[in-house]
Amino acid sequence: MFVDTHTHLFLEQFSDDIDTVMLRAIERDIQRFYLPNIDISTFDDMMGLVRKYPDNVMPLIGLHPCSVKENYEHELAFVDEKARSGEFFGIGEIGIDLYWDKSFLSAQQESFARQIELAKELALPIIIHCREAFDEIFEVVDGLNDDALFGIFHCFTGDLAQANRIIDYGGFKIGLGGVLTFKNSGLDKTIADVPLEHLVLETDAPYLAPVPYRGKRNESSYLIEVASKLAKIKGVTLERVAEITTDNANEVFKFEATKPQ
Ligand code: NI
Repeated sequence: MFVDTHTHLFLEQFSDDIDTVMLRAIERDIQRFYLPNIDISTFDDMMGLVRKYPDNVMPLIGLHPCSVKENYEHELAFVDEKARSGEFFGIGEIGIDLYWDKSFLSAQQESFARQIELAKELALPIIIHCREAFDEIFEVVDGLNDDALFGIFHCFTGDLAQANRIIDYGGFKIGLGGVLTFKNSGLDKTIADVPLEHLVLETDAPYLAPVPYRGKRNESSYLIEVASKLAKIKGVTLERVAEITTDNANEVFKFEATKPQ
């Protein structure tokens, strides 16, 4: 079985056909889906999907860096309250995004740091979103990393030096999605040198669909395209990729599979 460690199936892009989207993914043996929240406005839809598929869908709570605006204190208070309810499997997605808007950089840095502190206090993993902000992300994580900090650098697109820096933190996995299949991304060459034990799979649906769906709406069933590409890069079977990336995801999210009687 596979785990989609990062998918936004609660967004409006799926409101017309979420049940067939779920079915297609489960038929392709993607059995578990971690949903990082974006902000207060997406929370109710996320929880609606959790109620519908309680065995498959796992909610995370966090404030996305692109939603860090004037009202971020209000958003952070919401994250804090929800995280303490014990219903959530991690703090995400959080981080820094300088692609769209740099005007809230200091608020993004502060929100990121405070949500890291919350995750450490509650012993939850963090899911890091990093876009055009590796230096800024590393600066915050360098200052807060210790044995209590762990999680996933989601949608990794960096180089080998950046991958090794993430691995050297000790508690982090590297999340691979559709970009791995993009021609000329160069990510395949980087990942050839990163051992499988550090990798998890994700789609980031509805964004960043893998080849041959590039440019279309992404969905969790397309995780297999990413897994197949990884199998090819590593020269192993798809089953081996499923086994090790699922183990890695279970380790991050502390998921204990029910043992057969
Ligand atoms: Ni995301």
